[in-house]
Amino acid sequence: MQSHEVVLYTESLSKNFGALRAVDNVNLKVGAGVHSIIGPNGAGKTTLFNLLTGFLKPTTGDIFYLGKKIANLPPYEISQLGMSRSFQITSIFPDLTVYENVRIAVQSRLKASYNFLRSFKKLKGVDSKTKEILGRVGLSDAADSLAKNLSYGLQRGLDIGISLATDPKMILLDEPTSGMDKKDSQKVIQLISDISKEMPVILIEHNIDIVLSVSDLVTVLYMGRILAEGSPSEIRKSEKVQQAYLGGY
Ligand SMILES: Nc1ncnc2c1ncn2[C@@H]1O[C@H](COP(=O)(O)OP(=O)(O)OP(=O)(O)O)[C@@H](O)[C@H]1O
Ligand SMILES: [Mg+2]
Repeated sequence: MQSHEVVLYTESLSKNFGALRAVDNVNLKVGAGVHSIIGPNGAGKTTLFNLLTGFLKPTTGDIFYLGKKIANLPPYEISQLGMSRSFQITSIFPDLTVYENVRIAVQSRLKASYNFLRSFKKLKGVDSKTKEILGRVGLSDAADSLAKNLSYGLQRGLDIGISLATDPKMILLDEPTSGMDKKDSQKVIQLISDISKEMPVILIEHNIDIVLSVSDLVTVLYMGRILAEGSPSEIRKSEKVQQAYLGGY
């Protein structure tokens, strides 16, 4: 559930693309639980993610993560600080097995060791951690399948598993259920809910029913600005949200 400890916050964050101000003076505070960012197409949600993860530099404003200013760090440094973003299945190696995909991600976090015995112990650690993650994302039975043979929904689950393998302290998910049938969506939503008990999750999601059911806090972006913020029931009741956004659905 929501806690008052803020892990990530932005100060007057803005991003211009030429004359367009895609993110406009955003002050966002993210603590524990699931924090959803919603808003119509073009509202600036993905641009905001790109700013938070270092893929875009702000035009003005700042971003603080775990007390550190990160707005001008490159993506890999932000990722090393434990902020993990799940891309739409682009991080998967299709011709490797599900197990190998996760194992590679687990290993990527460990520094190479020249001490043979220590390496051996580490290798055992890698195997057990890989299996633990496969269990968490519901892929134990599919461990030996080639990634490319998984259903789309399970590939998204694998993608989240690859994110978890890097020991994140926070996870960002951009439309993790897009293109999924209801059954797969439900699995991913359950997974998001489980993960959020261990680390903050920022979720971009178009399906409003999913948002209202899984979120602790919802921020509504509209034309780059925060239009409203509150609990799912506050957002559901908000008249300006209904007019600007929910009514359009
Ligand atoms: N690299 C870019 N160069 C120019 N304009 C961009 C760029 N990226 C995004 N935009 C514009 O910025 C605005 C916000 O886009 P963004 O992708 O952040 O919206 P979004 O809320 O994620 O939308 P959607 O729900 O469709 O994914 C849009 O008008 C978009 O066309
Ligand atoms: Mg988007």
